[in-house]
Amino acid sequence: MKQFLKKLFTNLKINIMDTPKRAGDMPVAVELVQGETYAWCACGLSNNQPFCDGSHHTTDMTPNVFEAERTGTHYICMCKATKNKPFCDGSHAG
Ligand code: FES
Repeated sequence: MKQFLKKLFTNLKINIMDTPKRAGDMPVAVELVQGETYAWCACGLSNNQPFCDGSHHTTDMTPNVFEAERTGTHYICMCKATKNKPFCDGSHAG
């Protein structure tokens, strides 16, 4: 079934990604503003890391849209393996 879907999506020019592309090996410090909405790149293909630039349109992945709960420095995941999206949970080390 997975092969069939992969072929179908290939024909439709949609890239099935089992795992996101690792965009970096360390989190990035980003200043966020409370109440502002951001779109964290979940696929790893964006050229505007750690944020979405629309590159996921060729995949079956979508960005993680979130609202900042406070103003200040936040450590945003770049390895795309965090279980606390979009924030670093240390997964890049393991
Ligand atoms: Fe990666 Fe949009 S470019 S989720």
